[in-house]
Amino acid sequence: MSDRGAVALREVALTVGREAATLARRMRHDGVEVADTKSSSTDVVTRADRATEDLLRERLLEIRPDDSIRGEEGDDHEGTSGVRWILDPIDGTVNYLYGLPDCAVSVAAEVDGTVVAGAVVGILSEVVYAAALGHGATRSGRPIGVRPTPPLQERLVLTGFGYQRAVREHQAACVARLLPEVRDIRRMGSCALDLCHVADGSADAYVEAGPKPWDWSAGGLVLLESGGRFDLLDGSAPLDSGDLRNVVVGTTADGWDSFVEALGTAGFLA
Ligand code: IPD
Ligand code: CA
Ligand code: CA
Repeated sequence: MSDRGAVALREVALTVGREAATLARRMRHDGVEVADTKSSSTDVVTRADRATEDLLRERLLEIRPDDSIRGEEGDDHEGTSGVRWILDPIDGTVNYLYGLPDCAVSVAAEVDGTVVAGAVVGILSEVVYAAALGHGATRSGRPIGVRPTPPLQERLVLTGFGYQRAVREHQAACVARLLPEVRDIRRMGSCALDLCHVADGSADAYVEAGPKPWDWSAGGLVLLESGGRFDLLDGSAPLDSGDLRNVVVGTTADGWDSFVEALGTAGFLA
């Protein structure tokens, strides 16, 4: 297999993801501090977010020195191999801060713009999701798949909220319109794990306006490789990124059309 092969990249994602999760777990045990805030006072970054991303970058540059890196907490690094790593050192930082279980290290590898490998490693739960394009997805080493699709009214939907006030007001209004149409809605706190929860049948669908590539790249591949459907759709949220394809959607394959129709009615889509 070439060193750009999806399986080889998945193994690297798993190696560095596990090491990073161990560091983050240890740092949480030693006490967490908020180091700074980003887009709003609720958008926190801890010392562990930075240390964990530093570790991921160091290890990736050791193992694969020619690759590019894009991480949430640092500057882009341009390599020459055509492989780019997309990193969220802690997805679910607020959960991490409070000790709630849904927080994970997310590591994805993209080749020529397509995500081909990924790992999502639970920091506190130690559950590990992994996928390689064309090779399926696993949860702690066992193959996973989405659940059968029930009617819309019986679907458990996961969602999330951004950190900016105007975006949250919009998200809350859309979620309020979707809620009466489905079984229930959960806000777990990690986009990466939300997509993995749909992938392993712990939920039926996920929608959120505004997550970034480091939030969804690895989890999106895990869902696709579990027989689900994942995509970005044109959204209506007032996001300053100017990115129109800002609504992240994941469902079972059969549930896609009816869920997207419900999202349109609820006001998520442009
Ligand atoms: C956040 C989580 C959350 C989602 C937010 C993300 P962070 O990432 O994925 O579930 O709703 O949009 O920003 O800040 O914890 O890395
Ligand atoms: Ca994130
Ligand atoms: Ca993060």
